[in-house]
Parts: sequence; C-alpha cells; structure tokens
Amino acid sequence: MPDLTATPPSLDRYLDETRDARLESYKDFLRIPSISALPEHAPDVRRAAEWLADVLRAAGLEHVAVEETSKHPVVYADWLHADGAPTALIYGHYDVQPVDPLELWTSPPFEPVAVHGRMLARGSADDKGQIHAHAMAAAALLATRGAFPINVRYVFEGAEESSSEGLDEWLAANKERLTADVAIISDTGFFEGNIPSITVSLRGLMYAQVDVVGSAVDLHSGGYGGAVQNPANALAQIIAALKGPDGRIRIPGFYDAVVTLTEDERAAIAELPFDEDAYRRDSRIEGLVGEVGYSTLERRATRPTLDVNGIWGGFQGAGSKTIIPAHAHAKISCRLVSAQDPDDIFEKFRAFVLEIAPPGVKVSVKNLGGGRPSLTPIDHPVTRAAARALESTFGRAPVFTREGGSIPVSASFESILGLPVVLLGFAQPHENAHAPDEWMDLANYEGAIRAIVATFDEMAKPDGGASE
Ligand code: BES
Ligand code: MN
Ligand code: MN
Repeated sequence: MPDLTATPPSLDRYLDETRDARLESYKDFLRIPSISALPEHAPDVRRAAEWLADVLRAAGLEHVAVEETSKHPVVYADWLHADGAPTALIYGHYDVQPVDPLELWTSPPFEPVAVHGRMLARGSADDKGQIHAHAMAAAALLATRGAFPINVRYVFEGAEESSSEGLDEWLAANKERLTADVAIISDTGFFEGNIPSITVSLRGLMYAQVDVVGSAVDLHSGGYGGAVQNPANALAQIIAALKGPDGRIRIPGFYDAVVTLTEDERAAIAELPFDEDAYRRDSRIEGLVGEVGYSTLERRATRPTLDVNGIWGGFQGAGSKTIIPAHAHAKISCRLVSAQDPDDIFEKFRAFVLEIAPPGVKVSVKNLGGGRPSLTPIDHPVTRAAARALESTFGRAPVFTREGGSIPVSASFESILGLPVVLLGFAQPHENAHAPDEWMDLANYEGAIRAIVATFDEMAKPDGGASE
C-alpha cells in the first residue's frame, strides 16, 4: 500500500533517486533512429514521436497529442493551471541527423552508452538530450509539487534537421491555440570551455544543389578529352568563382541585406572569453581561415558564408579509369545573417551560377530548403529569468553569444506567433553534433533539468515573465 500521508520528496531528492531510471529512459529515446532526412526512416521518426508522447503523458502533462504535418509529426502537450502566471511555449526537436560515415563511430550510433560522464549516441546532444531534460523536468515538478509554477505548452518537432519542413504551416494553422508569452527553444549550447550561455542570434540558411550534365553516359577521355566540356571541371570552375580568396562571396547582391555590426556589438563579442587556439585544437584543424577584416567569432556567427557540403561525380574507385564523366553535382549552402532571405538568396545564387556556367554542359540549380536568421532579445524578462537560473544551477553567470547554426522555427515563432524567443540550450561545444561520436555531457544534461525548473520558478516571480 502506498503511504498516502507521506509528503512528496523534494525536487532534489526526487532527481537524485530517479537518476538511473532517467538515464535508461534517455537511452531508450536514443535507440530510435529518427533520422528525418532519410525517407526509409519515416516510421522511426513517428515511433520517436509516439515514444515521446508516452513519456509526456506519464509525466502528467495534458492534451498530449501526436499531430500531423505535411512531413513528420509534431508532439504537443500542455499544463495550463498556473492562473495569472506567464505561459512558455517550449520547443525542441526529436529528429536527428544521418549517421554516416558509420565506420568512424566508436560504438553504433543508435546503441547509446554512458561512459566517462558522457552519453554517446546520435541525437544525445542535438537535440534528444535537451528535450528529454524538459520531459524529466516536467515529470519531476508534477511528482514533487503536483504543479508547475508557470503555464507550459510543449511543441517538439520531427523535421528540424530537414529545414523544419511543414512546421510553419502547422504553426499558422494552430496559431489560435498556441497562445503564450514567450517561446523557449532548447537546441543550442554552452560557450567554448562549457561556460553557460544564452544565445541571442542564429544564422539562417539557404541550401541548394547544382547539377551539371554533359553527355548521356561517361565518355572515353582519349576519344573525347579536349573536344568536349567536362562536367566535373565545369562544376569546379563554377564553385571557384563563387568566393574570392578574401573570403567574400561574389554573387551580385549577396550582401545587400547584411547589416554591419555596431562598434558596441563588436566590442561585446571581443570581450567573450574565447581561446582561439583551444577552439582550433579542440576541432583538430590545421588553421583558421575566413573573411578578411573579421575575427573568428565574428566570422562564425555574424557573417554570411558559402560552403560546399558535398561534391560528387565521375570515377571514385581504386586505380584509374580514363573518362569524361557524364555528370557532376554539388550541395552548396549559405549561412545567412541580418535580413537576408533564403528564397531571395537562392534566386541570386541560381542566376549567378547559370550566368558563369561554362558552355557545353547543362547546369541546373535546385532549392533544398532553408530558414531565416533570427535575433532574440537580450533584455527580455524571461531572458533574465533564464540567466539567473543558469547562474544558480551552474555556478556561473551565462555569457550572451551569437551562434552560427540555424533553427528555422526561431524566426517563425516571432513572425507567425508573435512571440519573443529565448534560446536556452545545454549542449557542450565540440560534442560532435552532426558528426560521428556525438555525445552529451551528463553533467550538462542533469544540470539542464534543474536549470529548466529554476527558469520556471524565476519566471513565476513578480515580473519574472512579463505576462499580460
Ligand atoms: N541545434 C542545431 C542548431 C545549432 C547549431 C544551434 C549550432 C547552435 C549552434 C540544429 O539542430 C541544426 O543543426 N540546424 C540546422 C538547420 C538546417 C537544417 C535548416 C543547421 O544549423 O544546419
Ligand atoms: Mn538541433
Ligand atoms: Mn542539428
């Protein structure tokens, strides 16, 4: 018989006592290969959504539902009984990146292991660990206090790694019921050196594929070499013309919507405790390069970029094969800043590629999706509440940083739902997101749960959340 007179344990005690079970649950989540980009994994993405919904239901959240979009489902849940307190819409994603190259993983990507204070698996940090921490914070609050200090709505998506396809339509269709005071996104990380951080800007993204076609089949390079255009050479010529040796992108109009940083903004970035040499060493790269006139931190978060993500075509086997390949391809993306619009940049990119394409081949350019950049308020009451929570939990006041990555929904929360956004993330830098051996620091994961609860508590204080 349960002792109904016993008082519920304190939150700290509850979290201490449930740690092993929590890690097992985290591992179960990581075992589901919810890769949103690969069509053959669509059933796994759905399975992850159902799994998450079950956990949210077990935590005691209400209106838990797996809802359809044009791509992968959204998991929704809420708890709205804190009358007069602010409402937070909490966001993260349960989909993950593909795992190739598989041979570079120390252990299989979907067989999580917890070793040396790290959880090793695809999605451990980006972003399953972070949304699992939210689910565990909800469970802890309802188990120990029977209530949240604020109102919460959870929106967990399954297509973030695929440019959040279908999410904007879902947000627009559900605008009326998604009322809140603020959106809290947990999909970013701490600063270099694992210093707690609140992100205040994200870059946007334009992602394109360039296809260059010469002949119907590969040609003998003896019979044709010198007499025809080589698609791989043509592609190389195009790519080489996109960016100068000064790191500036040559596409006409590319920088039109880029706003120059103010001297104060540059000074704030220069003051961050950034060890450039450690950054280089931790990433195991030879040397840092980039756009002339900007520091490394400015380059990686405040300036737009153009990069080849993948390039293929022609003979890739052992030894030599003398051919003029029939076709060649590249996936090229641009990180965007300020008011750069992904569709506008795609059109400019396409027009320029077609203009500079050498004769004798057919060049086509496809838009593979993207997202808008976003700036979030540094002085919003919820930003300050989150900063106090990070300081009390991790023992150090957070730094405010700009991130080079993209979270398309951040701009959408503002434009579609009219919500200010707070980027409260817990990943470590260099935790191999999108790469082999992704890991999450288990101290950050455990701290995340406590910092989430502390943020809610701070928001519930008078004027802590600026509701109404
Ligand atoms: N969590 C990342 C975004 C991120 C990366 C934030 C680094 C802060 C630092 C997110 O899951 C992601 O990878 N986004 C994609 C977006 C794209 C597919 C539209 C990205 O940035 O490449
Ligand atoms: Mn992410
Ligand atoms: Mn990601």
